[in-house]
Amino acid sequence: MKRRLMTGFMAAALAGTVLAGCGGTKSAETDAVTEAVKTEGAKTAEATEKTEEKTADGAMITVGFAQVGHESDWRTASTNSVQAALSRENGIDLQFVDCDNDSAAQLEAVRNFIQQGVDYIVIDPIISTGWDIVLTEADDAGIPVIVIDRTIDDSDKYVSWVGSEFTNEGLAAGAWLEAYAEKNGVSELNILEITGTTGSSAEIGRTSGFHKYIEKNGWNLLDSQTGDFTQEGGQSVMESYCKSYEGKFNVVICQNDNEAFGAIDAMTAAGVKFGVGGDVILISFDACTAGLTDVLAGKINADFQCNPLQGPDCLNIIKKLEAGEKVEKKTFMAEPWYVAEEGLSEISYTNNAGKAVTEPLVPVDQAVVDAAY
Ligand code: AHR
Repeated sequence: MKRRLMTGFMAAALAGTVLAGCGGTKSAETDAVTEAVKTEGAKTAEATEKTEEKTADGAMITVGFAQVGHESDWRTASTNSVQAALSRENGIDLQFVDCDNDSAAQLEAVRNFIQQGVDYIVIDPIISTGWDIVLTEADDAGIPVIVIDRTIDDSDKYVSWVGSEFTNEGLAAGAWLEAYAEKNGVSELNILEITGTTGSSAEIGRTSGFHKYIEKNGWNLLDSQTGDFTQEGGQSVMESYCKSYEGKFNVVICQNDNEAFGAIDAMTAAGVKFGVGGDVILISFDACTAGLTDVLAGKINADFQCNPLQGPDCLNIIKKLEAGEKVEKKTFMAEPWYVAEEGLSEISYTNNAGKAVTEPLVPVDQAVVDAAY
């Protein structure tokens, strides 16, 4: 691994941001550190000038980030989180590449980072396979790779991954639908599914988790097509579903909020009544601000969070690696499940690790929406 000396300013900035990013109860010690960082913060202009100087002498940490694209509200929150944490103020020179959902472009971006000799590479992999050769190249070049959000499943040549347990998201959606249908006396479920980007671990996990409940209950899956995690994709698939399955479906599951926004527009145009009190139960994933606004309005019945705020975790990993400390190979984000109605307060299911769990269902109010990303 390539190494540089960290200056006092960089160490203070890294320490301060990691503490701020982790949140939680502040101790006197963290207050003191926070105060020290605030003092640094008061000298923003001077500090920025100094870090710019450090760029010239190569002391900044250089990080290349190959982001999936800009397909969703979730993605915007992810990009903002990483850019805010891996900032010049925190001693990091971040090169950001929006790969526009193009796997070949993402591999090329990573190869460019390797050629430039950046200190770290951060990847949010569009799809979960096809990574072994390029990660071997990064490894040979001594550049640590940090993976966020989606997983890489055909190579372990990365130092750390932090993201979501997508299979649990799908399992939780299935467990909720099972309990909701039983509570409301819905005996026959005819389901239309709009999946995310094919081959992404988010799509693979959510599909496999939810399908376990389809098989277990003998639910009828009428159709499943990809909406590529976009609003346009969700709308176009739902428009076609409304024509092909008119009057025949009572559940729509969209694998992210933007697909659900498109499905809402298509069902509204087709005169389909969905959401609370409607004929069709609508399920989504992500729980971004606009998604939770639709849950609060009763348009989406349940929204399973996928947490995009991995910037502070990335910074924390880099900080530890810089200090020569060990990092976790895998870290899962904590993710709540949101619902439009009270009545069911929790769900129980066997999670992807084989553990029986009981987890709360959070009814959405304005405070929940206001706290979202
Ligand atoms: O990988 C996370 C998924 O990708 C989110 O569910 C979706 O909104 C995004 O595009």
